[in-house]
Amino acid sequence: MSSPADPVSAQRPYYVVLLHYPIVNRNGKLVTTAVTNMDIHDIARSSRTYGAKGYFLVTPIEDQHELVERILAHWRSDHSRQYHPDRVEAVSLVRMARSFDEVKAAIRAECGEDPEVVLTDARPSPNAVSYADYRRELSDSGLTKPVAICFGTGWGVSDVFYPEVHRILAPVYGPEGAPREGIPYRGYNHLSVRAAVGIILDRLFGL
Ligand SMILES: C[S@@+](CC[C@H](N)C(=O)[O-])C[C@H]1O[C@@H](n2cnc3c(N)ncnc32)[C@H](O)[C@@H]1O
Repeated sequence: MSSPADPVSAQRPYYVVLLHYPIVNRNGKLVTTAVTNMDIHDIARSSRTYGAKGYFLVTPIEDQHELVERILAHWRSDHSRQYHPDRVEAVSLVRMARSFDEVKAAIRAECGEDPEVVLTDARPSPNAVSYADYRRELSDSGLTKPVAICFGTGWGVSDVFYPEVHRILAPVYGPEGAPREGIPYRGYNHLSVRAAVGIILDRLFGL
């Protein structure tokens, strides 16, 4: 785990990605979720605090783009710049994308190569990488490949997204730890996406 003597080098540019498609709903059906105002601000602030190069909101729905653009226009106004400069700075990281292909294209244009795609999930996966190990990988100064850390909405990211994914991060657990057979209620770890972003960025990039 991190310590003040173990800073993460800034060698690898990384981006936070919040997917509103492809997502599953409570019945396991493939859906597109709605963008929420809180997710725009709160995740932008965590992204700024932990040094992300950008924060992508991915939705194919045109109305949602217009809505978010209206909100962002508010934060670009002179009034906001004067009275909420911290929030304006964070929100300036927000980018809209219609698909994950658009996210990859934007990162490729900025960094010269496609990102390593890292998925976060509350459910355990046999091939998941631990935070300590991935933090070490990120601080390897020999590597410059950009990273896209992806978060879900609704009931989580659909497995139709899996072909995009290179790494899956281990789930975050509290003191109950992972679920264990025969022990009811053990392993509750259903965080809001905003809490999950804060915790995961702190584990990977925090001092
Ligand atoms: C399933 S969505 C829930 C969105 C919901 N509408 C909300 O914010 O309350 C939460 C997302 O946060 C991340 N997440 C939540 N809990 C997590 C955990 N324990 N470990 C890792 N990631 C987690 C995953 O990216 C997941 O897709």
